[in-house]
Amino acid sequence: MPRPEDVVFPGRERFEDRRKEREQRKLLDEFFDHATLLAVSRVINRGLFDAIDYPISTGKEGGVFRATKDAGWRAVKIYRISNATFRNLPPYALEALRREASAKNYGGLIFAWTRREHTILGRLQDAGVRSPVPFGHYRNVLVMEYIGTSEGAAPRLRDARIDDPQAVYDDLVVQIGRMVREARLVHGDLSPYNTLYFDGRPVLIDVAQSVAADHPEALRLLTRDLANYAKFFRRLGVPVETDEFLKAVGADRVGPPPAEVD
Ligand SMILES: Nc1ncnc2c1ncn2[C@@H]1O[C@H](COP(=O)(O)OP(=O)(O)OP(=O)(O)O)[C@@H](O)[C@H]1O
Ligand SMILES: [Mg+2]
Repeated sequence: MPRPEDVVFPGRERFEDRRKEREQRKLLDEFFDHATLLAVSRVINRGLFDAIDYPISTGKEGGVFRATKDAGWRAVKIYRISNATFRNLPPYALEALRREASAKNYGGLIFAWTRREHTILGRLQDAGVRSPVPFGHYRNVLVMEYIGTSEGAAPRLRDARIDDPQAVYDDLVVQIGRMVREARLVHGDLSPYNTLYFDGRPVLIDVAQSVAADHPEALRLLTRDLANYAKFFRRLGVPVETDEFLKAVGADRVGPPPAEVD
């Protein structure tokens, strides 16, 4: 006689499957509203990718999907078109966006935000920073290089098993140094969460909120970003101090230029 807890109800598993499927469908319905579906089909028609495969990550502001393109893959980031999207945006970023967007409605802001992420990824490529290559954008859809393998997307640095933390730190100094010195940008939300770990190396992602290196908030943001990393590396046994990290990436040239004195 089986114990009650061992009894598997025949319908139970299927019920669970259906529940999961319903949740998945609800989530996808939220993302792929009519306007977004049209935007996705436009981007497909332009040849930026062939088909969406599956979600890599879904959050409050948007989702990132793996897509197929010819024999390879691309990553497609889709921002949600809803008022909730920018509630968590820091005021300095929203202010910059409003200026750029010249749009009063949230839709316009989201499209401007998507374009901004695309532009910044392009500037990072020009500066030789390891980050996803941008391939195009349309409305709330951004298509970029997929960081990962056929097995799946690269893990976030936060979740990865890191073989040589010192080497990753040294590499980050180079990447962030290029971002600050060459691209003249400060990320502003950089952390082991917004860094992927691929092939033993860090890849910087999620760049839309970056600010110009001479922005009044730039030094404060860079200091916060690097303090995040420093804590992370100390836990891994690399004795990183925020001050030394700041110096190594060229923080002395970050912040508003000194006022001219006559
Ligand atoms: N180019 C890419 N290749 C592979 N995976 C990616 C890529 N870009 C983003 N991802 C995955 O999607 C997740 C979310 O991306 P991103 O940080 O850009 O968006 P987000 O809206 O800020 O989401 P979150 O709030 O989760 O950080 C990343 O943590 C990463 O796992
Ligand atoms: Mg992120």
